[in-house]
Amino acid sequence: MKIIIKNNYADMSTEAFKLFAEAFRDSESLGFATGNTPKALYRMISSECKAGRLSFRGKCTFNLDEYYPISSQNSESYWSYMNENLFNNIDIDRRKINFPRSMPNADETVNRYIEKYSRFGPVDLQILGIGRNGHIGFNEPGTTKYSTIRIVDLSPDTIKRNNAPVHKAITMGIREILESRKIILLASGSDKSWAVSDAVTGRITKSLPASFLQEHADTTLILDREAASRLHYGGNIEMQQQYPNDHA
Ligand code: GLP
Repeated sequence: MKIIIKNNYADMSTEAFKLFAEAFRDSESLGFATGNTPKALYRMISSECKAGRLSFRGKCTFNLDEYYPISSQNSESYWSYMNENLFNNIDIDRRKINFPRSMPNADETVNRYIEKYSRFGPVDLQILGIGRNGHIGFNEPGTTKYSTIRIVDLSPDTIKRNNAPVHKAITMGIREILESRKIILLASGSDKSWAVSDAVTGRITKSLPASFLQEHADTTLILDREAASRLHYGGNIEMQQQYPNDHA
């Protein structure tokens, strides 16, 4: 794992965009997360695309998760989030958006996404966030590293934190996440600091699904100072502390 610590949310997002743009050229499939954390990154991707400096032509996308069941018209759906924050602003061929759409039938919902993933996956470059309880995607504590695309029950904590419109979701499993060639995980704010430090320096355990990323060959965590505040690092972690404003 490589860890980059930046001063604040804006600097974390700028760094994420830099790494994203570098890896983008060699990536055919891009994996996206939802949540507040990647919003500024998506704004930067959108404006670079609008300026013609970045193009999604020839690329395909995957998303980690979606509430279940939910109508795609629902403003709280991740489909609405992705359209608003990214898809409407980039030149992606819409047929190449692979999304875990909520269908009326649970089996159909899961099988459809498994089929898309087996045809167009794995993901070359995956953007990840992290839940306060260490979830990635909607892989809640208790998820094994062998988990695959499926419908899950959200934890009470996640339901509360996310103000979730429903109590279930479809998510990629840890297996598909670990199959991504390159992963960039973003975390901002002190409420993520426990999950971040346990994921990086704690045991690899299903109690904290993000800890499975320790087994991934090319994962970079980009943290702001608050998210990194409980990090006591060592072992095989490559760390770059960058606080450009410290001496300002
Ligand atoms: C949701 C999503 C995750 C995301 C997490 C963190 O639970 N399923 O993919 O990483 O929220 O969200 P935020 O960035 O708003 O803290």
